[in-house]
Amino acid sequence: MDIKIEDLTIAYGDAVAVKELNLTIDDGEFLVLLGPSGCGKTTTMRCIGGLEQAASGRITVGGRVVADASRGLHVPANKRNIGMVFQSYAIWPHMTVEQNVGYSLKIRRVPKDELRRRVGETLDLVGLSGLGSRGASKLSGGQMQRVALARSLVMQPNVLLLDEPLSNLDAKLRDHLRLELKAIQREAGVTSIFVTHDQREALALADRIAIMREGRIVQLDVPRSMYLGPSSPFVADFLGATNIFPGAVSAKVKDGVEVGLDNGSSVVGKTSEGKLPGVGDQVIVAIRPESVVLERASGTPGPNRWLGTVQVGSFLGTTVLYRVQLENGVILEVADTQAKEEFPAGTPVTAVMNPDSVVVLDTAA
Ligand SMILES: Nc1ncnc2c1ncn2[C@@H]1O[C@H](COP(=O)(O)OP(=O)(O)OP(=O)(O)O)[C@@H](O)[C@H]1O
Ligand SMILES: [Mg+2]
Repeated sequence: MDIKIEDLTIAYGDAVAVKELNLTIDDGEFLVLLGPSGCGKTTTMRCIGGLEQAASGRITVGGRVVADASRGLHVPANKRNIGMVFQSYAIWPHMTVEQNVGYSLKIRRVPKDELRRRVGETLDLVGLSGLGSRGASKLSGGQMQRVALARSLVMQPNVLLLDEPLSNLDAKLRDHLRLELKAIQREAGVTSIFVTHDQREALALADRIAIMREGRIVQLDVPRSMYLGPSSPFVADFLGATNIFPGAVSAKVKDGVEVGLDNGSSVVGKTSEGKLPGVGDQVIVAIRPESVVLERASGTPGPNRWLGTVQVGSFLGTTVLYRVQLENGVILEVADTQAKEEFPAGTPVTAVMNPDSVVVLDTAA
């Protein structure tokens, strides 16, 4: 079912946690809410689920208004048919896996045969068939989280809310379950909102990402466009473009602008939204570590060719991550994803940047 959130504001006393938030999520979509700690992600989820009341605004799920502050309408959580999975596993340790998953169906007096069938199908879906009679306390973290997921899915919810469900798991298991979760969501076809503050997780899972800051959504886009075209320094920084330099536009060139950076270097880049800043405008330049190519130093410096020295490199398997100290003293982070050769500390290098991968952002954004 689709979800429509209109002008949603949520306050705790005087503190406003979510401010006039607008968001529409398509039927079957996997939307990721991404943002720093305290920006209002959990509060938004709790309000959609019915655990928090809106101070103003409206929430509609599948055409049915479930919250409308102006009319004092608030459909209680248990009448919304929305599944929720949170960071803590929240399963009952004294019950078996099957009993955990079937509990809500039992409460609703679903006939035994149907209950057994639905529990079995859901355990298959989350990859737990065979563990149904195991005590829930005798499971690994990843298995417990699957039980929590199954418990929500067995109710055939209209919407699934997942609030950092993988963050208690170790890195390897998290990567694995993440892929599985996406496959399960696709198969169940359930509209889902997933909260995280991990940009890699967001990029890996989302149909679209909504980035939140201080109670508002600052950018909403598909992962690739958001990654390649952040609309503000905040989003660029949040999505891992760690090289961020202030400067001013010095000239317009074909397909972009040349920027004189405050640190003395110059660079040609493209603007993310097509609107070109004018000559003299203050801008921020964002350069992803993996879009810089290092050459052994030779030749002359110029726009998009900066001379420097490798300060330190660290080998990460598929990538070598370098800190390069430029001639002007600035540190440039470089991720060499080809990793054909490793430059030891002290190697003089030229950092080369393709203008297409240099993003020029308005400082006002
Ligand atoms: N029960 C509460 N009472 C008062 N303030 C609260 C309450 N819950 C959350 N807040 C505040 O509302 C704001 C948003 O909190 P929220 O939990 O939604 O953030 P979040 O984006 O989920 O952060 P995190 O990534 O740390 O989980 C924060 O400033 C927080 O301190
Ligand atoms: Mg939270």
